[in-house]
Amino acid sequence: MLPEKPVHASWVFRSTIHWSFRVLVLAVVLGLMIFWAIDSLDVSDFHKDFLVKFDVNLVKGLKNFSTTNGSDVSINFNLTNQENQDFAGIQEVSPIKPLNDTTDLVNVTGKPPAPVILKWVSAELDPDYSSNLLARWLTPGGEPCKDSSTEDIFIQGLDNLDHQIDLWAGDRHEYVIQALDNSGRPRCLGGDYFETDLSGDAWKSRPPIKDFGDGRYSFSLQVHPDFVGDYNLTIILLFRHYQGLKFSPERFAFDKVLRVFPITFKNSNSSHRLPEIRRCKKSDYTRDAWAGRWTRHGKNDECMISKDGRYRCLQRDYPCKHPWCDGSLGSVESNGWVYSTHCSFKLFDAKAAWRCLNNRWLFFWGDSNHCDTIRNMLNFVLNVEIATVPRLFDMNITNPKNPGQSVRITSVFNGHYNHTGNYQGLNSLYNDAYRDYLKKYFSGEIVPDTLIMNSGLHDGVYWPNLRKFTKGAQDAAAFWAEVLGGVRRRKVVVPEVIYRTTVATGGYARRLVFNPNKMEAFNGVLLDKLRQFGVIDHVVDHFDMTYPWHFDNRCNDGVHYGRAPAKMRWRDGQIGHQYFVDLMLCHVLLNVLCAR
Ligand SMILES: *[C@@H]1O[C@H](CO)[C@@H](O)[C@H](O)[C@H]1NC(C)=O
Ligand SMILES: *[C@@H]1O[C@H](CO)[C@@H](O)[C@H](O)[C@H]1NC(C)=O
Ligand SMILES: *[C@@H]1O[C@H](CO)[C@@H](O)[C@H](O)[C@H]1NC(C)=O
Ligand SMILES: *[C@@H]1O[C@H](CO)[C@@H](O)[C@H](O)[C@H]1NC(C)=O
Ligand SMILES: *[C@@H]1O[C@H](CO)[C@@H](O)[C@H](O)[C@H]1NC(C)=O
Ligand SMILES: *[C@@H]1O[C@H](CO)[C@@H](O)[C@H](O)[C@H]1NC(C)=O
Ligand SMILES: *[C@@H]1O[C@H](CO)[C@@H](O)[C@H](O)[C@H]1NC(C)=O
Ligand SMILES: *[C@@H]1O[C@H](CO)[C@@H](O)[C@H](O)[C@H]1NC(C)=O
Ligand SMILES: *[C@@H]1O[C@H](CO)[C@@H](O)[C@H](O)[C@H]1NC(C)=O
Repeated sequence: MLPEKPVHASWVFRSTIHWSFRVLVLAVVLGLMIFWAIDSLDVSDFHKDFLVKFDVNLVKGLKNFSTTNGSDVSINFNLTNQENQDFAGIQEVSPIKPLNDTTDLVNVTGKPPAPVILKWVSAELDPDYSSNLLARWLTPGGEPCKDSSTEDIFIQGLDNLDHQIDLWAGDRHEYVIQALDNSGRPRCLGGDYFETDLSGDAWKSRPPIKDFGDGRYSFSLQVHPDFVGDYNLTIILLFRHYQGLKFSPERFAFDKVLRVFPITFKNSNSSHRLPEIRRCKKSDYTRDAWAGRWTRHGKNDECMISKDGRYRCLQRDYPCKHPWCDGSLGSVESNGWVYSTHCSFKLFDAKAAWRCLNNRWLFFWGDSNHCDTIRNMLNFVLNVEIATVPRLFDMNITNPKNPGQSVRITSVFNGHYNHTGNYQGLNSLYNDAYRDYLKKYFSGEIVPDTLIMNSGLHDGVYWPNLRKFTKGAQDAAAFWAEVLGGVRRRKVVVPEVIYRTTVATGGYARRLVFNPNKMEAFNGVLLDKLRQFGVIDHVVDHFDMTYPWHFDNRCNDGVHYGRAPAKMRWRDGQIGHQYFVDLMLCHVLLNVLCAR
C-alpha cells in the first residue's frame, strides 16, 4: 500500500499531539534521520516517500521540549493494531515540509537537489467493479462490529485538534475515517456513503474517498498553490452500509453533517511542484473516474439575472486563466467558475464548434439530461435558437452564419421504451420494438460518427436491487456490442462511443431512489460492463463535474442541471437557477469530439 519506508524504525506518531509540538519533535527526529539517510538513501526519494511512523513513547519522552501548550498525548482512539498501522503516519507527511525542506538536505554531489514533482490526487474505479461491489454488498455480518451501524466517525489527524488546521498547498494530505457505532466502538464493515466537500472562495472539489471494506475509509485533500486560503472540509454521512442502493432508500437516509473542518491551505517555500495541468488530449478520456475541481477566475458580486433568465455576470469574452481553461470563461455564464480535471478544457466559440462538428452525426442515448445538454449546446454554443429538444429528436442543423456547415443530432430517450413513459431505464432494451428502433439508426451505409450514452436516473427507480441492475447492464452492454459489431461486419466506420456518467442528484433528491450513492454505483457497473464488452472509447465523468454543486438546488432541480434559463422561482424558492454546470458539460463533450 505505502512505499517502502526509508527508515528501519517502526514508529507510530499520534495524531492527538499538538501540531506545533509535532513539528518540534520532528525537527529533532529529522535531524537524526538525515544522518541515517545520507549513506543509505537517495535523498530526494527520502523526502517524497517520507512516511515515517513515530513511536508514541518517544513522543512522550520528548514532550517537555514543547514550548507551546502541548495538548495531551493520550490516545483517544486505538489505531495501534497491526492492520491500521499503515495509515498511522500518512497525514503526518505534510506538516514537516516547512522544516527547510529538501533544499536543506545535503546533496551528496554538493549540488542543490532537483525539485520534487508532486502528484495530483486521482480517483479510480475498483477493478472488477461490478463483482466486487456485489460481493461487498453481500458480505455477511455475524459479528457485533459488522452488525452495528455507523453513528459517528473518528478521523485521525483532524479530530481532537484544539487549534486551526493548516496544510500545505500542493501536497496530498491523506486521512483515514474510522466508522464508529453508537457506543463509539469501531465498525469493521464498509459500505457507508460519505459525501465529502472541500470548498473555498475559488475552489470546489470532492476529495475522492476509498472504502477499505473494514470500517475504514480514506480520502485525500489537495489544493493547488494558486488557491491558498481558507476552506471548509465537510463530511456528510448520507447512507449507511449500501442502504442507498435499496429499492426504497428514502427512509434509510441518514444525511447528517458529521464534520465541518475549517482548514487553511498555505504556501510553503518548498521546491515541490505539482505538474501543470495541460489541455486534454484524446488519450485523456480513457480514465474511468475523474477527480476534478471547479476553480474560480472572476467574480461579479452585483450580477443580476436578466429577464431571459441568464446570468451574464462577466463579459462574454472574459478570458480563461491558463492553465485552468482555454477560451472565453464569460461564455459559460458561471460567474467565473470552470471545471478541470487531470487535464483542462477548451471553451468553444461558435466558429470553432461549428468547424469541429460540421458534417458529423451525433447520436445521444440516455435520459432527459441529454435533452438539456443538446438544447444548451445549440443555444449557447452553436447559436441555433431552439426552445425545446424532445425525448426523441432527429435533426439536420445548419449553421445560421454559414449555410455550408451542418450537423445531424439524434437523441433517443432511454428512460422507457415508449418516450412518453418513465422509470424503465435499461430495462427498455428488453422491448423488441425499442431495440429495433435503435438498431435502425446503425444499420445503413451511413451511421452516426459518435454515440454518447449514459445510464439514466430512470434506472434508479426501476431496478429492485444491485444484482438485477448488474444483469440489466450486462445485457445492455451485450446489445450495444452486437449493434456495433454489425456495423463493423458491414465494413462501415464504427461510431466512437462516449460514456457520460449520470449526474449526482441534488438537494432533496439526494435521499431518493436515484440518490448519488446508487447512481455512482450504477455508473460504475454499466461502465464496467461496457468495458467488458469493448463498447466504449471515451469516458466523461459528469458525476464528478456535478458533484460539488449537488448539495443544494441552486444548480439543479434535483435531477437536471441544464434546464432552460428562466426568470422564475426555482426549486429552492429563489428566483432563477444556474445552468452553467450543464453548459460546462457541452464544452467537455466538444473537447472529446474535437480532440486529436
Ligand atoms: C517533563 O517535565 C516535568 C515537569 O517539568 C517532569 O516532571 C517530567 O519528568 C518531564 N518529563 C520528561 C520525559 O522529561
Ligand atoms: C494550556 O491549555 C489549557 C486548556 O487548554 C489551559 O487551561 C492552560 O492554561 C494552558 N496553559 C498554558 C501555559 O497556556
Ligand atoms: C489497542 O489495540 C491493540 C491491538 O489490537 C491492543 O493490544 C491494545 O490493548 C489496544 N489498546 C487500547 C488502549 O485499547
Ligand atoms: C533552516 O533554514 C534557515 C534559513 O534558511 C536556517 O537559518 C536554519 O539554520 C535552517 N535550519 C536547519 C535545521 O537547517
Ligand atoms: C544533486 O545534485 C545533482 C546536480 O544538480 C542532481 O542531478 C541530483 O538529482 C541531486 N540529488 C538529489 C538527491 O536531489
Ligand atoms: C465555512 O463555513 C462557515 C460556516 O458555515 C462559513 O461561515 C464560512 O464562510 C465557510 N468558509 C469558507 C472558506 O467557505
Ligand atoms: C519563504 O521565503 C521568503 C523569501 O525567501 C521568506 O520571506 C518567507 O518568510 C518564507 N516563508 C516561510 C514560511 O518560510
Ligand atoms: C439529415 O440528412 C441526411 C443526409 O443528408 C438524411 O439522410 C436524413 O434523413 C436527414 N435527417 C433528417 C431528420 O432530416
Ligand atoms: C406510447 O404510449 C402512448 C400512451 O400510452 C401510446 O398512445 C403510444 O401508442 C405508445 N407508443 C408506442 C410506440 O408504443
